[in-house]
Amino acid sequence: MLKDKHIVLGVTGSIAAYKAAELASRLAQEGALVEVIMTRSAQEFVAPLTFQTLTQRPVITEMFQLLSEMNIAHVALAQRADLVLIAPATANTIAKLAHGLADDMLSATVLATRAPVLIAPAMETNMYENPVTQANLASLVARGMMVVEPEVGHLASGRHGKGRMADPAVILAMAKQALGRDGDLAGRRVVVTAGGTQEPLDPVRFVGNRSSGKMGYALALAALERGAQVTLISAPTRLSPPPGAKMEFVTTAAEMRDAVMGSIAGADALIMAAAVADYRPAEVARQKIKKGPQGLTLRLRPNPDILMEVAEYRRSTGKPSVVVGFAAETEDLAANARAKLKAKGLDLIVANDVTSSDSGFDSDTNRALIMDRLGQTSELPLLAKSELAGQVLNHVVELFRNAGFFTSK
Ligand code: CTP
Repeated sequence: MLKDKHIVLGVTGSIAAYKAAELASRLAQEGALVEVIMTRSAQEFVAPLTFQTLTQRPVITEMFQLLSEMNIAHVALAQRADLVLIAPATANTIAKLAHGLADDMLSATVLATRAPVLIAPAMETNMYENPVTQANLASLVARGMMVVEPEVGHLASGRHGKGRMADPAVILAMAKQALGRDGDLAGRRVVVTAGGTQEPLDPVRFVGNRSSGKMGYALALAALERGAQVTLISAPTRLSPPPGAKMEFVTTAAEMRDAVMGSIAGADALIMAAAVADYRPAEVARQKIKKGPQGLTLRLRPNPDILMEVAEYRRSTGKPSVVVGFAAETEDLAANARAKLKAKGLDLIVANDVTSSDSGFDSDTNRALIMDRLGQTSELPLLAKSELAGQVLNHVVELFRNAGFFTSK
């Protein structure tokens, strides 16, 4: 999605400027045309040549000196930008932007652009927490700019606190979301569930399943990149939360049920990619169950079927307007999927055969069948889970259209 996008990367005077080099490199590797503007103080930390080499483009360091040489006026730069990204952004730069100053190339470009602006602050904790900096950031956000919050960690002063520039990978993810903010899911609230629930047996053991959460996380990320507001309800996984998603962490099916029912009132779509345990141990031992020669018989009790409850809620409220389920099968894929679609009142079901090694649990790819309410079925080839997520979301956009939602594009 970054291919041939014009991205103005503003680098200001913080020690985190060296991390902007990695960001520039990753943007360029993904095909973006990166135009770096460095403030004078940024050049005290990193040489312009570093960025020039990484981006293969001239670096802008002065407001006027280069205009005649390269014909890069701030207005031209501001106009062709698809995104202006300022990383790191100092308290001083943030203050200038909040007040509309335009006394160097970067601030003038921001003032002149209509592109989305994304800011990654980096500074001492006290400067960051100072009410004036917070007020400046709030006023930028109120005007539509996006801020990637700094992290808590070791700071250049030797102290520990909030103010470290966010990780370049997080900034990159947020840059993609800023570029996609007017996408075909803009303004839609999407709830996604992911991972396999764990049902405790005693303080150290649980009954679980092999779901990795990769499909649900891929869906959440893809929806964010198309402009949606995403709540990701996640059972335990080894994955990092997609930047920008509102996370709700749960463990059991009962907790997932509560989280889903608590979030769908305000949702436009629910995508249930989680592998919810159908049963839980009837008793949870308070102490660790000890081994013994007589063996152990587990008694299991059925869990609530979340999608069944959602169907009931929907019958009385009409919300959410789109509900997507998944079906993990080991036989009779299409027939089982059709039965689940009907029983659970779904608009769409994504079914996959989890017996093959390149599809299903923990694999990075999936071979799926997508079936809609009218019984229309598309059999998809082997796809990366991120690609399958894109296909599922294409159907969701189509379902919104049919439900009378009109998108901005
Ligand atoms: N699901 C749910 N609540 C449950 C079990 C499953 O909401 N207690 C959802 C899953 O998130 C998935 C869909 O229902 O979107 C189908 O899940 P699957 O496990 O394939 O089907 P089950 O209904 O559990 O049927 P079975 O296990 O008998 O195949």
